[in-house]
Amino acid sequence: MLDASDSFVTEDGRTIGGVVMEMKNITLRFGGVVAIKDISFDIREGEIRAIIGPNGAGKSSMLNVISGFYVPQEGEVLFHGKQRPPMRPYEVARQGIARTFQNIALFEGMSVLDNVMTGRLNNMKAGLFQQAFWKGRAEKEEVANREVVEKIIDFLEIQAIRKTPVSRLPYGLKKRVELARALAAEPKLLLLDEPMAGMNVEEKEDMSRFILDVNDEFGTTIALIEHDMGVVMDLSDRVVVMDYGKKIGDGTPDEVRNNQNVIDAYLGVSHD
Ligand SMILES: Nc1ncnc2c1ncn2[C@@H]1O[C@H](COP(=O)(O)OP(=O)(O)OP(=O)(O)O)[C@@H](O)[C@H]1O
Ligand SMILES: [Mg+2]
Repeated sequence: MLDASDSFVTEDGRTIGGVVMEMKNITLRFGGVVAIKDISFDIREGEIRAIIGPNGAGKSSMLNVISGFYVPQEGEVLFHGKQRPPMRPYEVARQGIARTFQNIALFEGMSVLDNVMTGRLNNMKAGLFQQAFWKGRAEKEEVANREVVEKIIDFLEIQAIRKTPVSRLPYGLKKRVELARALAAEPKLLLLDEPMAGMNVEEKEDMSRFILDVNDEFGTTIALIEHDMGVVMDLSDRVVVMDYGKKIGDGTPDEVRNNQNVIDAYLGVSHD
């Protein structure tokens, strides 16, 4: 049995660290709907942790609990071993957590560059007062923010479209811009809600490569929801499987693939 602080080496030789986020007996209800039923699992430092399951299983709800957006009625969320109090979005960002959404949430009329810059809003320390009366500090910060943003734009190979309004981009590139905006916050934990939904094979391959590169080069811990089982099996170190709000599997991709409950849940269920 692995301790919270232990690290381990995966089948493909990747070293995964201690537990950074622990969900303990989480239950989340919306009125009469129980979206999450008594689920426990953890996320370890440096891993790519997939959350999978049929439509309506409660995956996005779970990501919203991890991000602090939803506070569960029952259970505990431990972040670096401490119980996490309800937080506002800027507090979540300051804790090093960033996310993308199932439905793209970008400013369509703004350029790619400006959208990615919004990812840094929570990293800015100079308040409005300082921006107005103490220009030096605000300007210095602006330069530093730009440097980070330009680095991310290069990293995700979107230099050629930096001035383009997001509304003019094809879907696959919008998803990449959303990833850029999340990365601009320099998160330690990155949450991706279906980063490849609606993409063609080539776009999925690109996105998979970027996710692996982010994990590898920045050491970012990643939790992602994805329907494409091929992608999940290729990318993730460990997988949590949800069905009707319950956890029905948890383990390495191979373990999950051979789990009878998981196989049953997936039979006859359509996925988009
Ligand atoms: N804000 C909400 N208010 C009421 N019910 C909700 C809300 N969000 C989710 N639900 C319900 O909770 C259940 C789980 O939804 P959730 O969006 O978490 O599933 P999902 O696994 O992400 O599904 P999908 O694969 O379709 O994105 C569903 O029954 C859904 O209708
Ligand atoms: Mg969802």
